[in-house]
Amino acid sequence: MKLLLIGSGGREHALAWALAKSPKLTKLYAAPGNAGIAEVAELCNLNTTDHQAVIGFCRDHEIDLVVVGPEAPLVAGLVDDLEAAGIKAFGPSKAAAQLEGSKAFTKGVCDEADIPTAGYGRFDTAEDALTYVRKQGAPIVVKADGLAAGKGVVVAMTLKEAEDAVTACFEGSFGEAGAEVVIEEFLEGEEASFFVLSDGTNALPLATAQDHKRAYDGDEGPNTGGMGAYSPAPVLTDALIADVMRTIIEPTIATLAKRGTPFKGVLYAGLMIGKNGPKLIEYNTRFGDPECQVLMMRLKSDLLDLLLASVEGRLDQMTADWRDEAALTVVMAAKGYPGSYDKGTEIRGLDTAATDDVAVFHAGTKRNGTQILANGGRVLNVTAVGATVHEAQQRAYERIRDIDWPEGFCRSDIGWRAIARESEG
Ligand code: AMP
Ligand code: GLY
Repeated sequence: MKLLLIGSGGREHALAWALAKSPKLTKLYAAPGNAGIAEVAELCNLNTTDHQAVIGFCRDHEIDLVVVGPEAPLVAGLVDDLEAAGIKAFGPSKAAAQLEGSKAFTKGVCDEADIPTAGYGRFDTAEDALTYVRKQGAPIVVKADGLAAGKGVVVAMTLKEAEDAVTACFEGSFGEAGAEVVIEEFLEGEEASFFVLSDGTNALPLATAQDHKRAYDGDEGPNTGGMGAYSPAPVLTDALIADVMRTIIEPTIATLAKRGTPFKGVLYAGLMIGKNGPKLIEYNTRFGDPECQVLMMRLKSDLLDLLLASVEGRLDQMTADWRDEAALTVVMAAKGYPGSYDKGTEIRGLDTAATDDVAVFHAGTKRNGTQILANGGRVLNVTAVGATVHEAQQRAYERIRDIDWPEGFCRSDIGWRAIARESEG
């Protein structure tokens, strides 16, 4: 089969690496890709926001399946346009991608299907939002409704912070995404992520993960897209997973099907595991980045088979098999990230080939002759497998010691929570 993969991050490098292992794959293209993806795919110069151009490329190159990595093309309806042109595409339709694209949409689904989630109010004027916030008091969570690249959420510990967040939203800090605001009850507990694959009707559980969103050690500093992750998440026991499937995932899939907008693709549930059981914080409608990197290291099944079964509605006939070991990834970022940082600095020490146990996925790199240059904020994802999270962590940091990139940094404590749990026994 000939595939086109859309995206350019570490998630897409991990997907490309896993897809390349499939005996069914004959050719992999990636748009726009990066220097790591180029090791397993042919990069193509394609404007992926121009859906007609993508359709034209697929026809010219006889593409059998398009795999969409990031959320923006999903929310923009790329999968709908490809399908209308008779081209198979993995990922949700524009309507189903509203589970990620609109927090108010997801809250509506939770109401309809009685899915456990934080209590909330939604507002389209600052005045009403402020009245509600003052009535509820802090701590409280203020969220811009739409896609804001992970920046539209303020967990306010004081009333003043909450009021400021509401004001910022309606003053246009998040553009269109902040025209409506969702205000939520503050949930206490431990966060974990759960990934499932759906074909519109069936939901196949994939795996669990936890990430570190803060930039610096000890989970301090500014929020980022994710500085590291590991899988599985020890907090999500088999009993809790069964509970999440029954109370959260299955009702969501059933509700979207009933509404005539079935959800196909990866559903990524952000969960809070508290005293009263798991609650849904949010949905994403794609693999997590960097969570995908650890999932792909653990996946034993053929990824291409699984994605195709999602597109073709055959997930009831599939299983997903995983290595029992843990996988952990450490993000190397350009100094300054998530603030401003330099691009174009050279990275050395990347020559060692990926193995089944250690792989360096590229997140923001480009090739310049024989050099690999940093080309983004999050630049590399050093990923390793081990018998325990601790062993996976040691292997990842061992690999990092061989990487020569003075302009980069990483956290030194990825996995600390799981490792503390392991040492408690
Ligand atoms: P979201 O983009 O909705 O995932 O929110 C980003 C982060 O904010 C989450 O990963 C949580 O750490 C935190 N958060 C969001 N909603 C809540 C909530 N209701 N209670 C506590 N923390 C939350
Ligand atoms: N790592 C968080 C995300 O992909 O949204």
